[in-house]
Amino acid sequence: MSGASAKPVPDPGFADGFVAVFDSGVGGLTILRELDASLPHVPLVYYADQSHMPYGPHPAEVIHPWVESAARDLIERGAKVIVLACHSASAASLYRLRDTFPDTPFVGLEPAVKPAAEATHSGVIGVLSTQVTADGELYKRVVVQYASHIRVVTLPAPELVLLVERGQLDGPEAHDAVARALEPLNEAGADQIVLACTHFPFLEPILRQHTMAALIDPAQGVVRQTARLLPPGLPASGKRLYLTSGDPLRLQGMIQQLLGVPSPQVLAADADF
Ligand code: DGL
Repeated sequence: MSGASAKPVPDPGFADGFVAVFDSGVGGLTILRELDASLPHVPLVYYADQSHMPYGPHPAEVIHPWVESAARDLIERGAKVIVLACHSASAASLYRLRDTFPDTPFVGLEPAVKPAAEATHSGVIGVLSTQVTADGELYKRVVVQYASHIRVVTLPAPELVLLVERGQLDGPEAHDAVARALEPLNEAGADQIVLACTHFPFLEPILRQHTMAALIDPAQGVVRQTARLLPPGLPASGKRLYLTSGDPLRLQGMIQQLLGVPSPQVLAADADF
């Protein structure tokens, strides 16, 4: 940033609007990487609320004000679409955000129970999630709508969120935690496992070593829904910017590790851009 009194010059890549991608931490990067690949010209601003993460163990009433405040901030800065790339934030806030900000389209994440229920041969599906997602209305609604004829085994796995957030995608501790989380789903005979937390696709290589079940990642559906909601006139700058309410240097290292982006532009959440 320049001198204290200098007015920040808006980055021309974002000045006419952008798509915001929100998560409590680095999990939403599993959605961002697919948006990046499918919509390369769309300007994307990623917002990680890492000062409050993990969201999953908190009740919706605690999480909602965090999500609402980030959404308000992003809208004021020019977000034209907000992707809640976080099942937990969607569980806590999606309906309320749509009421509070009726002019902004929100893409929410609900557990991908529908494709799992359609694909199962064993009649048992597993859902790996967080506690607030498992307790939420969105989840209850999709289970009643798509899976009332099959068995659904729901398993909150908060330790897997923390592994990813620490960048531990392999090694004995990660394998032990993954094996422990999958055991009840394997024992129940689940042949489809819904990854109902956006952190979990980063663990796919080791999840595959501990289960024969198919793993269902919602990212492609989110990309299709986002593409449908893009407003006309969004600049085609293809710029990417990352914001965090936590430590920007740490997030920068995580993006390098998780996405292989050599020098991502990362700022504090309240910095000017
Ligand atoms: N990425 C998250 C989700 O999809 C959040 C995990 C957390 O903060 O507990 O639910």
